[in-house]
Amino acid sequence: MSPASAAAVLEKAEAVDLAAAREMDRYAIVKSALYTSGEIDHSQPQPRDDLKGKLRLMGHDPRLPKMPDKPTLIDFFRLRFGPCVHMMQSARLAQKNGCSEKLILACVLHDIGNNGFIRADHGYWAAQLVEPYVDEEVTFAVRYHQVLRFYADDKYGYEYPESYVRMFGKDFHPGAHMDRYHDYAKKHKYYEAARLLTVNDLYAFDPSVQVDLEEFTDIIGRHFRQPEEGLGFDNSPSAHMWRTINWPTRYL
Ligand SMILES: [Fe+2]
Ligand SMILES: [Fe+2]
Repeated sequence: MSPASAAAVLEKAEAVDLAAAREMDRYAIVKSALYTSGEIDHSQPQPRDDLKGKLRLMGHDPRLPKMPDKPTLIDFFRLRFGPCVHMMQSARLAQKNGCSEKLILACVLHDIGNNGFIRADHGYWAAQLVEPYVDEEVTFAVRYHQVLRFYADDKYGYEYPESYVRMFGKDFHPGAHMDRYHDYAKKHKYYEAARLLTVNDLYAFDPSVQVDLEEFTDIIGRHFRQPEEGLGFDNSPSAHMWRTINWPTRYL
């Protein structure tokens, strides 16, 4: 690139930044209580922010890439979710292990909870997000992989992860409610799907191995019922959750 065209590119980028900054200046961006709970004790009265003269943001956050009007699952992967190397590598492993397409899809989707929405109880959030659009076996596997990862199963060669000992301490126990959910899942007709998801859920993944979502677009096309109106706009039981990921700072 010639110095003149490099300068033109830089100038354009600066103009875009300036326009975004001006746009931002018009709006008060108020974080949801969940974003700050823990840093702030919301049970106590909070000093009021000075929002005078500012509009409340009621749509797209100009700091984020703009989503299409009818966003697809792929758009959420590309424009909202964090790097998905772990999920893609898990899906590729499931494929290599000869798992069904539904299970491969479950691997593709299994961590969208912590990756793009809410970390705590990530399997439950992810399952709720996808439930209207996938087979119930996929939803079950996504929801219960979170639970089953805490419980060994010799039959499937699944051991309690070493990484959990490092991350949570050697005496950690996920709680009596998780024991109950595990007991429930074990007797369920889709137990194997959820267990196979934990078996293919890579503990140690190699960030240098690139697996693109492209590898799985056919499987997504066959097993994820993309709504015509776009995710977030089809009035499904989880549409509002997709809208929140699309517009995370919308005031109301
Ligand atoms: Fe997970
Ligand atoms: Fe995972």
